[in-house]
Amino acid sequence: MEINSNIISPLVVGGLNSPLGARDLTHLLQLEGEERKTMLRKAAEVKASEVGNVVYLRGLIEFSNCCVKNCMYCGIRLDNKTVQRYTVSNEDILAAAKYAYDKNFGSIVLQSGEIESPAFTEKVEYLLQEIKALSNGELGVTLSCGEQSEDTYRRWFLAGGHRYLLRIETSNPELYSKIHPNDALHSFTKRVDCLKLLKKIGYQVGTGVMVGLPFQTFEDLANDLLFMKELDIDMCGMGPFIEHVDTPLYQLKDQLWPLQKRFEVTQNMVALLRIMMPDINIAATTALQAIDKLGREKVIRTGANILMPNITPGVYRNSYKLYDNKPCTDESADDCTSCIDVRVHLTDNEVGYGKWGDSKRFGKRG
Ligand code: 5AD
Ligand code: SF4
Ligand code: FES
Repeated sequence: MEINSNIISPLVVGGLNSPLGARDLTHLLQLEGEERKTMLRKAAEVKASEVGNVVYLRGLIEFSNCCVKNCMYCGIRLDNKTVQRYTVSNEDILAAAKYAYDKNFGSIVLQSGEIESPAFTEKVEYLLQEIKALSNGELGVTLSCGEQSEDTYRRWFLAGGHRYLLRIETSNPELYSKIHPNDALHSFTKRVDCLKLLKKIGYQVGTGVMVGLPFQTFEDLANDLLFMKELDIDMCGMGPFIEHVDTPLYQLKDQLWPLQKRFEVTQNMVALLRIMMPDINIAATTALQAIDKLGREKVIRTGANILMPNITPGVYRNSYKLYDNKPCTDESADDCTSCIDVRVHLTDNEVGYGKWGDSKRFGKRG
């Protein structure tokens, strides 16, 4: 496609006089060769000057793979009967949190499938209180447990959860309805309402999308970036879509972009988001590493500033497979931890040990 150099020139000279619109972004997402390199370099500069070349860690605890939903892309969807379901005991979750605290990670993420029940609300509330207690209130805790009631979100916030990740998956409601069952449990509007609710309650809110979904266009991806800007998010996690053999979307695998293209476009998405929202936190997601062994490192060089080493107790890791080829499923927490330090140094970044590493955006908004 023909590249409109007027669009990248503001990136080249360094100043963005007018905000990037959907048409600009649609073009920029498709840049190749030297022009793409210029854009990635620009994102690296923005990162260095706005948030510094520091990578903050979030120890990821995938504490339950039980889920009531049936997202068409996800390996742990309810109808996948080949999955061995597990919920890590409170004792083991707290031991993993203590590990992160002792290793000076600064923060952890408690992630699970979606379960809405009084017992689940209570479990997470209890864990938050205990994690705060075992770390003298020092360990930051991000939650990623899907759509919940306002009351549950409030209870978790009061118990010490201060960040929440809930991906919109795609900002196009029509595409959303193609990759989810069409029922009240999988409602686009509900997802957006939850994001707004989380912000209202006072969480730092993270969202994100998958890149390279069937039926997804560059316009959709451009609108995803604008959606995040409009919502004024604090954090973002975006990754390439990777088909999982035990899911309905696997049938469409022949229509997908090649993996390498999904990787490159994800890298472009991260770079453009860094340019559009210079002071937010952006994760280098594990799905990037499933395509390219150095995938996360490449994206740290061009905009991302958050890594999420897996500290889920080893025996469960193999059962939290959202997509095929998920890395780090055979390692122990110690393997990931030592590996991460080496990897971050490879990118000429430093690890922000012992810090919460909150999004600067959140601090400014107050
Ligand atoms: N490929 C890539 N990402 C996936 N997720 C779920 N299934 C897949 C897949 N097949 C992502 C979704 C979800 C997050 C926890 O994992 O974006 O929000
Ligand atoms: Fe459940 Fe999340 Fe997977 Fe959907 S993407 S099936 S909500 S774990
Ligand atoms: Fe898990 Fe490298 S991050 S082994």
